[in-house]
Amino acid sequence: MFWILFAILIFIVTLYYFYQVNKYKIIDDYPGPSALELFKFMLLPKSTADSYKYFVSLNKKHGAVVKIWLKPFKPTLLVSDGKFIKSILLSREYFNKPSYLALMEALMGYGLPIMTDINLWKQERKTFSHIFNNQFIIDYTSTFKRHAVNLYESINENLNQPIDLQMLLLRYGLNIVYDLLLNEDISKQDNRVNRYIKSMKTFFEVYFDRINSPLKINDKIFKLTNNYNIWRKSSDETKEFIESTLKRVIKLKKESPNKSDQKDFIDLLLESDLSYERILEQLRTLVVAGADTVSSATGFALYKLAKHPELQEKIYQEYISILGMDKNVFAEFRDIQQMTFTECVVKETLRLFPPGPFIFRTLINPTEIDGKIFPANIDIIFSIIDSHYSNFDNPTEFKPERFFPENACNIPANAYLPFSLGPRDCIGKTVAIVEVKFSLSYIIRHFTLHPISNHEINLSGEIILTSKNGLPVIFRKRMD
Ligand code: HEM
Repeated sequence: MFWILFAILIFIVTLYYFYQVNKYKIIDDYPGPSALELFKFMLLPKSTADSYKYFVSLNKKHGAVVKIWLKPFKPTLLVSDGKFIKSILLSREYFNKPSYLALMEALMGYGLPIMTDINLWKQERKTFSHIFNNQFIIDYTSTFKRHAVNLYESINENLNQPIDLQMLLLRYGLNIVYDLLLNEDISKQDNRVNRYIKSMKTFFEVYFDRINSPLKINDKIFKLTNNYNIWRKSSDETKEFIESTLKRVIKLKKESPNKSDQKDFIDLLLESDLSYERILEQLRTLVVAGADTVSSATGFALYKLAKHPELQEKIYQEYISILGMDKNVFAEFRDIQQMTFTECVVKETLRLFPPGPFIFRTLINPTEIDGKIFPANIDIIFSIIDSHYSNFDNPTEFKPERFFPENACNIPANAYLPFSLGPRDCIGKTVAIVEVKFSLSYIIRHFTLHPISNHEINLSGEIILTSKNGLPVIFRKRMD
């Protein structure tokens, strides 16, 4: 009996497989790795850095539109050409997200980046666009200042010896975003913060491993693996972290409501028509989206600056030309806007090290772009990182002058998209740029950075770009 049922099952699965292959026949002749190569990739043990490097290599090897049958019943197209990227990202017809992104809900709640319910997404995106464009955004530099002082102290305690920028800046980035969004200063709660960061990192690793396995992506099979408990624990811990603060903040706001004209983020959220549950879910998302990305960008920028003392000097000169020599003066929003060279350093960092190296979409309708057919219901991964390399001369060189106005006009349209494009682009991009500029200029004002000889970055991108072997540098204090 067992064997009969087993044979029927195999028969049904095979039929379904050929039905799917036929459904996507139209992209049969698109280039891509062979079935054997993909099979080996799936089965052989590999680190997340190996998987990341494999994906990044595919466009280089096969071209701007690559077909990969990684999931057994559905192909994915890996795309790195600006014209395809633009047509799809700017369209209002295509902007859904692949279902596997929903697995991240366990870590970050059902928030904007992973929402597949388009009507709900539209409503809530509108609410958040309104909040992000609001008054609170102008005053966020006061939050940056508070945390910059803590960062200064942490660096000061570790002068003249190698220190890994990643952990240092992740704590700092989390403290800032938490304070901005939830009005709570967690900078003195080291154990709690470290536990949250550990849970988040562990979750990303397990997630990346899951979505690259045709078996573990299935909930029932995943529950049988050891990683399931790690997954649940990370998910519970990160949810509890945000929820406990949110409850406390709401209670405080009820006891003493903010009657001034100067609203903060949480005031605006509580005034919106979002329910408590929706606020919680979106805050869980924003903390992850806002902390890890900005820390990644700041870390890679400082690492590169350590290797380029001449660029540090330019940032320093720009800073003192705007703010003078008094070390106790902090940059305000208007000062940061004047830091044009520092902004080119940030842009070049986001080109070489885009914190979100891939952008995901599911095509709702079939479409033809530049003679290529994109069938309906297909998952697309835009390789922003490949676009950032293949469209620039000497792409591995760190050259902020690419973004000087006289040169920036030569960058091919839609070749540079660290914050994506179109209706689902990054909602936090203004805050992010200001925060990175503030942090870089502040650090360079007070310290000089020095490289560690023989250290080379080992890139990996579970979701956010990281260096698997850290970003070590040496800080020395500036005397002037
Ligand atoms: C250097 C820092 C950052 C980079 C490079 C970055 C990049 C991105 C990218 C590539 C996307 C995907 C867009 C898409 O799917 O088309 C995105 C979405 C998003 N980002 Fe950022 N981000 C950064 C900082 C932030 C910050 C500080 C916040 C908020 C505090 C934020 C909140 C979001 C949200 C909510 C979305 C989803 C938008 C939606 O689907 O409607 N990001 N970001």
